[in-house]
Amino acid sequence: MNDSPLARPVVLATIAGTRSALADRGNVVLVPTMGALHEGHIALVQRALELGGTVVVSIFVNPLQFGPNEDLDRYPRDLEADLDKLHRLGVPFVFAPSVEEMYPSGPPQTTVKAGPVGSMYEGRSRPGHFDGMLTVVSKLVNIVRPTSVIFGQKDAQQVYLVRRMLADLNEPVRVEVVETVRDDTGLALSSRNRFLDARETRAARALSQALDAAESSADQGIDAVIAASQGTLMGESLVQLDYLKIVHPDTFLPVDDGYKGAALVIVAARVGSIRLIDNAFIVLAG
Ligand code: PAF
Repeated sequence: MNDSPLARPVVLATIAGTRSALADRGNVVLVPTMGALHEGHIALVQRALELGGTVVVSIFVNPLQFGPNEDLDRYPRDLEADLDKLHRLGVPFVFAPSVEEMYPSGPPQTTVKAGPVGSMYEGRSRPGHFDGMLTVVSKLVNIVRPTSVIFGQKDAQQVYLVRRMLADLNEPVRVEVVETVRDDTGLALSSRNRFLDARETRAARALSQALDAAESSADQGIDAVIAASQGTLMGESLVQLDYLKIVHPDTFLPVDDGYKGAALVIVAARVGSIRLIDNAFIVLAG
């Protein structure tokens, strides 16, 4: 039941309908999502509403960014529940197209290439993921024509690549980044957390604990950071580390030995069969 006095969002399912509904709106703020909205998405929407324009939340599970062995079919979808949440927040427009509306001729022939950083870290484990993600973000930007677009810091590599694409392609769109929302144990919220059982949920905390360990040892330099954070992850038998890297926030490339200054620690691990990612900013000294 929904007892909010706010109007329900207008659900736009077509590109033509979206363009005409937004035609006279000067300041449009886009929150791209794949649905299954949790508190992390709610924080993105709240930021969008604070910006004061016409907020459009897109809900589209983009097949192009899933590999053949990934969880496209299993990815959670619950449009009605998502609309209820957006209704309570007072979101005026939801763009929720079908796959056929977005890709009427099947997989597109023209796609965005994420470049070298797109095949590192997440891209190494998920080949083609970032090309698919950037392609759909580019399409969403072309359809909605926002002045600002909102992303979550949890997907740090995604944020870097979207910013880079918009700059490289001269798209006049501002990117707003919202801090990662965590549960009270520190676990970063993710649509995939619902697939973790109770033991795996406890084990998954090791990712944020590893980032805390990184932060606490940052004043002793890179080697200490790596040792402390890897040690934390290796202490948890259900966690299988994929990568733990320290990258420069401006280039997303690994920092050199002896580097001092702001850096981002990025981590990915499998907990049971679920792949999780997280990251934290640190200041390296030592
Ligand atoms: O972060 C996501 O949910 C997706 O990658 C995005 C940006 C909505 C593109 O499909």
